[in-house]
Amino acid sequence: MYKTDIHVNIGSLTLKNPVMPASGAYGYYEDNANVFTMDKLGAIVVKSVHREKREGNPGPRIVEVEAGMINSVGIPSGGIEKFIDSELDALAKLNTPVIISISGGCPEDFIESAKMLDGIDKVGAIEINLSCPNVGSGLQFASDEVLLGRVVQGVRSVTKHPIISKLSPNVTDIRKTASISEDCGADAVTIANTFISMKIDIDKQKPVLGNIMGGLSGPAIKPINMRMVYQVWEAVKIPIIACGGITCWQDAIEYILAGASAVQVGCANFVNPLTMVEVVEGIDNYLHEKGCRSIDEIRGAAHL
Ligand code: DHB
Repeated sequence: MYKTDIHVNIGSLTLKNPVMPASGAYGYYEDNANVFTMDKLGAIVVKSVHREKREGNPGPRIVEVEAGMINSVGIPSGGIEKFIDSELDALAKLNTPVIISISGGCPEDFIESAKMLDGIDKVGAIEINLSCPNVGSGLQFASDEVLLGRVVQGVRSVTKHPIISKLSPNVTDIRKTASISEDCGADAVTIANTFISMKIDIDKQKPVLGNIMGGLSGPAIKPINMRMVYQVWEAVKIPIIACGGITCWQDAIEYILAGASAVQVGCANFVNPLTMVEVVEGIDNYLHEKGCRSIDEIRGAAHL
């Protein structure tokens, strides 16, 4: 199927290729079969499922800005029970691993959700959204080191599924939170979630978003996340899933050279829904043209 070996491992989970959507940036997977089939992706990642039902934030929830977008959706969710009972089955039929992003308002929320997902073989992995900028206490899980440890360790203790710690870029030193995640049993880290940001409407002289501030994603953040992936690669041994501003295969290659094992595509899906399949093809062609047999031969190659 591919010219080279582009499979990657995230803990015990094997992905046939390293490309997946960023949580929340590609929804309703079943309906998109007319654009491409989901088996083309290494995995799918669902929009964060909250422990309890949530309405989400008031609109407007999304605004386009220079080189990206800001969103403050607020994780509207039917809750984890409803997700397991009525949404997971359909996702599991799509012939690609399903990564469940979980969110919560306190460590117990994450732990309870992970417990409920444990033992369900339709779950490929759990991504812990420790870094939502838009729900009351969302960000603190990836900036307060004690809380971070409690969440990751707690989730680790209740599930055998691979767990991925999705970290916040809104910290002084992301190597620290990545190391804590590794020490507490995470199988991988996602570097990184969105940047707290805002846009003001100069006619109304007021913030555009209903929630005032939101998370910035898109090409604007790529060089910053590149730096963080590069730093984290030198700080931990677990795989890094790079996320931030990928719009083409060249961006994905750049992240792999910085040390990423896999990549997530977010904002670009809204511009070109074929981005992810083009990235898969581009990675495979690049490796082939460079005479590499597998992705392992270039991972982290940019390090001096
Ligand atoms: C939302 C959640 C996130 O994790 C993020 O980075 C941006 C927005 C949200 O649902 O509002």
